[in-house]
Amino acid sequence: MRIQDQVKEHFQFKVVHEDKKSGARAGVITTPHGEIPTPVFMPVGTHGAIKALPPNFLEDLDTKIILSNTYHLHLSPGSKLVKKAGGLHKFMNWPRPILTDSGGFQVFSLQRKSIKEEGAEFKDHKGKTILLSPETSIEIQQELGSDIMMAFDECIPYPATREYTKKSIDRTHRWLDRCIESWTNPKQALFGIIQGSTYDDYRDECLDELVKRDLPGYAIGGVSVGEGPELMEKIVKYTGPKMPKDKPRYVMGVGNPEDLCMIWENGIDMSDCIIPTKFARGGTLFTRRGKIRIRHKNYRRDFFPIEPNCKCYCCQNFTRAYVKHLFDSNEILGQVLATMHNIEFYKNMAEEAREAILDNRYSQWKEDFLKSYKKDDG
Ligand code: GUN
Ligand code: ZN
Repeated sequence: MRIQDQVKEHFQFKVVHEDKKSGARAGVITTPHGEIPTPVFMPVGTHGAIKALPPNFLEDLDTKIILSNTYHLHLSPGSKLVKKAGGLHKFMNWPRPILTDSGGFQVFSLQRKSIKEEGAEFKDHKGKTILLSPETSIEIQQELGSDIMMAFDECIPYPATREYTKKSIDRTHRWLDRCIESWTNPKQALFGIIQGSTYDDYRDECLDELVKRDLPGYAIGGVSVGEGPELMEKIVKYTGPKMPKDKPRYVMGVGNPEDLCMIWENGIDMSDCIIPTKFARGGTLFTRRGKIRIRHKNYRRDFFPIEPNCKCYCCQNFTRAYVKHLFDSNEILGQVLATMHNIEFYKNMAEEAREAILDNRYSQWKEDFLKSYKKDDG
């Protein structure tokens, strides 16, 4: 039996409801480590840890799935060691689903690398030459034991010429076939990635090539690479609704709350981004009325929580004045509390969006959310 058919026993996706007035949809992904209601936002744990947050807190925040990175875990501690520890779930003590990115994106964002048919070559911090290829990427992801593996692709930089884009997507599809050849574990689902830069016809061509391979899920890659919000929306609007209805649709590396509203409206089920966690560590917190920079002098005597109705541990127990004080004093607890709050904010957004979709009022929800959210304090 083809691996694409074997995986169906362990990985499923069901659309629960399609919003009647927009392209948004609510679904459920089933994996060997549990179910994921969609739309879902995935916090990023690059090195097998969500920065500043132990997994029990993540579970308390009801995080359903996290993303981790092949590239970073390959460099340290190495996937062989993680396998020896019993796989990434066990190694990091995270019992719920994990998605691993293939390393393509991370390697391609390096300054010094060379891309060949074989794969992408780069030097690690010790100067040792490392080749990441479709075969090694899948081997590493299978040793890590993630629930969802991403195909090894080239994330095309922006801007790109038509000539470069065509050469790159053809190679990404040859790489995809090598990924499928290397994929042996049916408990791990392999997702393909649509590239094609800003060219509609190339996005179509990529989608066709992926659908031919009948994979368990599909992602839009090569966005949020400097093209700006208008072009990103154009790409997602064009591509999202054309992706197969019966498979999860994932937009990689997106984004801020406005971006999430936009991708969900276009039928996207999953996304990941470092924004909530990275911003938290820098002292930027998300609220219903926009972002706040907690170090600002205004919060010195502000004895209200970050967000009045928030259920997170930070808002239930601490004031803005205290969190500001922690940041001002470089106390690591500030980053911990801020990370909890931002993850809770993103989770609430996705949950509310899902409820709205189930009630056929996604567009109204989006409008109300953005009206309040855009009252940013600058
Ligand atoms: N993360 C963000 N964008 C991309 C992409 O295009 N490809 C991969 N593999 N990862 C990404
Ligand atoms: Zn909170």
